[in-house]
Amino acid sequence: MPLGPVPRPRHRTPPHASERSAMATVLSVSGSPSATSRTAHLLRHLDRRLTAQGHEVIPLDVRTLPAEALFGADLRHPAITGAATLFDRAEGIVIGTPVYKAAYSGLLKSLLDLLPQYALAGKTVLPLATGGTTAHALAIDYALRPVLSSMGATHIVQGWFTLDQDITVGDSGAVTVTQGAAEALAQVVDRFSAALGGRTTRLAPTG
Ligand SMILES: Cc1cc2nc3c(=O)[nH]c(=O)nc-3n(C[C@H](O)[C@H](O)[C@H](O)COP(=O)(O)O)c2cc1C
Repeated sequence: MPLGPVPRPRHRTPPHASERSAMATVLSVSGSPSATSRTAHLLRHLDRRLTAQGHEVIPLDVRTLPAEALFGADLRHPAITGAATLFDRAEGIVIGTPVYKAAYSGLLKSLLDLLPQYALAGKTVLPLATGGTTAHALAIDYALRPVLSSMGATHIVQGWFTLDQDITVGDSGAVTVTQGAAEALAQVVDRFSAALGGRTTRLAPTG
């Protein structure tokens, strides 16, 4: 199902008073090191659904942070303190990662390692993964979820694993998600949105 071009990061215009209580700030984090990442494209697409439900979504691709800061554990680097501030200010966090060697990516972990121990305390967290085989679909639960819990996340909503072959990124950046995967993703995103108090608009499946 064609999804159109990948959206630029968008910031909502100030909401009407009636919407204010429903809106949350969501940080949408891609942990893929790939420049043509399916995970990142998928997240940026899901961002649009969350935006349509009344949330302010801030995208963060870990690969854009300086490698010397991430891998030199430079806690004082402005890019790292800036990322930590984004986590601190967000009420909802989407964590997306490709499955690498049956777990999350090392790049994602390199950022999580530099955040405060309880950086996810009080946040609502949606874990998402993409991978090449359903044999590793549980990587979210046995690998990623314990890390998120150790960082203080007490409200981790149901996550979802999407096969890489179900996501196609065209030359223009347009994303296509197979129907079954799109429907499943729409459900988990809508549950996450509802947990954040998002508007319950009727939206078509996300792919
Ligand atoms: C170094 C490497 C290791 C991978 N290991 C796994 C794995 O253990 N299990 C799996 O299901 N997929 C594995 N994959 C496939 C990726 O998880 C999958 O293609 C993913 O969608 C890539 O996401 P990206 O395009 O956002 O980087 C691996 C890919 C790479 C490059």
